[in-house]
Amino acid sequence: MKKTVANNVYWIGKSDWELRQFHGYEYSTNKGSTYNSYLIFEEKNVLIDTVFKPFSREYIENLSEEIELSKIDYIVCNHAEPDHSGALPDLMELIPQTPIYCTKNCIKSLQGHYHKNWNFIPVKTGDKLSLGNGKELIFIQAPMLHWPDSMFCYLSGDNILFSNDAFGQHYCSEPIFNDLVDQHELYSEAIKYYANILTPFSKLVTKKIEEIENLNLPVDYICPSHGIIWREEPLQIVRKYAEWADNYQQNQITVIYDTMYNGTRAIAESIVNGLTLADKNMTVKLYNAAKNDKNDIITEIFKSKAILIGCPTVNNGIMYSIAGLLEMVKGLKFQGKKAAAFGCYGWHDTSTKIIEDVLKESGFEIVSERLSAIWEPDSNFLDKCIDYGKQFVTVLNSSDFRKSRS
Ligand code: FEO
Repeated sequence: MKKTVANNVYWIGKSDWELRQFHGYEYSTNKGSTYNSYLIFEEKNVLIDTVFKPFSREYIENLSEEIELSKIDYIVCNHAEPDHSGALPDLMELIPQTPIYCTKNCIKSLQGHYHKNWNFIPVKTGDKLSLGNGKELIFIQAPMLHWPDSMFCYLSGDNILFSNDAFGQHYCSEPIFNDLVDQHELYSEAIKYYANILTPFSKLVTKKIEEIENLNLPVDYICPSHGIIWREEPLQIVRKYAEWADNYQQNQITVIYDTMYNGTRAIAESIVNGLTLADKNMTVKLYNAAKNDKNDIITEIFKSKAILIGCPTVNNGIMYSIAGLLEMVKGLKFQGKKAAAFGCYGWHDTSTKIIEDVLKESGFEIVSERLSAIWEPDSNFLDKCIDYGKQFVTVLNSSDFRKSRS
C-alpha cells in the first residue's frame, strides 16, 4: 500500500519488521529495516529505486495496484546494491523498454549483478529530467555514499532530496516520518548506521554536504532508502552528519575484552575502576566482545575518544571475537582516537602485541604501554590495573589540554 509523502509523491517500499541481520551477518538490525521506493505522479511518472529481491513479487503486485506498469515513464536507480535494485529484474521483464536513469558506475554494477542490457541512460551531477508541471529531477552523484555508483536526486517544486543510503537508518516503523517516531530510537539507529557503514567515507560526507549547501536548494523532505523520512526540520540529520563526519567523539572511553578463565575480565574491570576514579565526568563502558552485539560495540567505539582492548594469548594469537572486531575497526578507518592493549598470557605474551599493532595500523594513537599479566592476575596486579586506568585518563586529559592550547 502506498503512503503519501507530499503532493504527488508516494512511498511504495517494503517494511521488513523481521529483518535481524543485514549485509549477510555483518550488521545487526534489531529493529528491522525498510527498503524505500518512491513513486512520483506528474505529467511523467517516475519510480525511484525498488526493494530487496526476496520481496520483489510482493512489491510488483503492490506497485501494479497503484499504477499501470506501462505508465511508468522513467525509473531512477540511485544505487545498484541489491537491497534497492533487487526487484528490477522482475520489473524489467514486464516493462523492458522503460529507461533507467543512473550513473555510469551504476550501469556497470547493475550489469554485473543481473547480466542484462536494459535501457540505461547515464546521468551525472547537474543533469536534469523534466517531469512536466514545472517540476524536474536534478541528479547529484554521491560516490561512496555508499558505493562508487551512488547518487541522490532532488525533486524541484516539492523540494525533496532522495538521498538513497545517506541519512538512512535500519529502523522499521509504521509511521514513516521522523516527527512521529521515538526520537531516542531513531537517533540510536541513525548513529549506529553512520558508525558502521559511513565512517570510512567521512571526508566525502563533509564534501557532499558542502556541495549540497552550495546548490542553495530548499529542502522540505529528505527521503532516504532505509528507515524514516525526515520531514520535520529535515536538515537536522544533515547537521548531525556534519558533526559525525568531523572526527566525532564524546567524553567516553570504551573498554573491550574477551576472556577464557576471567583473568582478562578481571583486568578489564580493574582498569574500568581506575578510569572511573580518575574522572567522574568521563562516560566509561565495558563490553565482552564475545557476548555483545559487534555493531553496538562499533557504535560505542565511534562515540569514544579512546578505547582499551584486551584478551589472553591463545595459540600464539588472539581470540576470535577480538580478531573479528579488530578487522571491522581497521576497515572503518576511525580518526583521532587513542588506544591501549591489555591481556593475560601463560607462555608467550603475544596477544597484547597483536592488538596494539592492529590498533596502530588502524590509525589509533597508542598512549599507554601494553599491560600484560602472566597467568592469573593477583590482587597486587589488579591494583596495578586500577593505577593503569587512572594514568590512562591523566595522559588522555593532558593530551586534550595540549590540543586545546595549541
Ligand atoms: Fe542500502 Fe548500499 O545499500
